[in-house]
Amino acid sequence: GKVAVLMGGHSAEREVSLMSGGGVLAALQSAGVNAHGFDPAQQPLQALKDQGYARAFIALHGRGGEDGTIQGALEWLGLPYTGSGVMASSVAMDKTTTKRVWHNEGLSTPQYLALSRAELTRERIRQIPDELGLPVMVKPPHEGSSIGITKAAGYSEMQGAVELALGFDDELLFEQCIEGPELTCAVLGEGAAAVALPVIEIRAVAGNYDYENKYKTDTTEYLFGSLAPALEAEIQQLVLRAYRLLGCRGWGRADLMLRRSDMKPFLLEMNTSPGMTSHSLVPKAAQAVGIDYPHLCLWLLAQARL
Ligand code: DAL
Ligand code: MG
Repeated sequence: GKVAVLMGGHSAEREVSLMSGGGVLAALQSAGVNAHGFDPAQQPLQALKDQGYARAFIALHGRGGEDGTIQGALEWLGLPYTGSGVMASSVAMDKTTTKRVWHNEGLSTPQYLALSRAELTRERIRQIPDELGLPVMVKPPHEGSSIGITKAAGYSEMQGAVELALGFDDELLFEQCIEGPELTCAVLGEGAAAVALPVIEIRAVAGNYDYENKYKTDTTEYLFGSLAPALEAEIQQLVLRAYRLLGCRGWGRADLMLRRSDMKPFLLEMNTSPGMTSHSLVPKAAQAVGIDYPHLCLWLLAQARL
């Protein structure tokens, strides 16, 4: 039957989603799948039914596409879709709730504070470094692709970081900054059958792995096999536990920091609709185990369900 590649949407990651969806659509079409792009920001989802679609490949990122809302609508329409269901999608879209779940189960994640707009007085902001140290990460918990995130070195930077992040969310996540390399680890599958792909170490040459260095530059380095095998296996086990705890299915990608001083990994977040752009990480990890981009797309589509 006809496959809709859902892309675009209303979130701040719309541009990234159009890149992901464009890649997925081209790959499915060249594999002979009757696939078409569908932007829920332009057409209501009911049109999927009216236009005779049988399945949906979700290449949306961020609010409205990765957070359980589209997943819920597709459940109502009875259209099988790729990736996680409603609950895992909505929990994983909220970095703070995700950390609460992991922390509660003893999984390693940086110390944090969640503070609402009303709580964020000057005095309260001034106290944050006493609790979390400096620099401190300031994050709008419902965004992706590093949008609205600042690594703040001191009080004046924190003020600006809070202003920026409050443009995206009414409650902010303040997270202890872990000094060391940034890692990512993708997972394919579900439950006991889920498998972790090789860990990638990310080296953004010009400083942080921010929006620019994620999608716009070609200077970011992606390293495979940079960790000792025992440490890589430990990280993969941690990521699989993190994935299963959230109830993810199909695929996902955990982002982590590795503390340089003692090589302890810390989970930052789980992405339930990871990027599929030419610069993205899941395609690189899949390629490393011999799954090329078109085969990855076909495999994900085959996992689509209600
Ligand atoms: N939020 C972006 C799309 C990612 O995690 O790949
Ligand atoms: Mg994310």
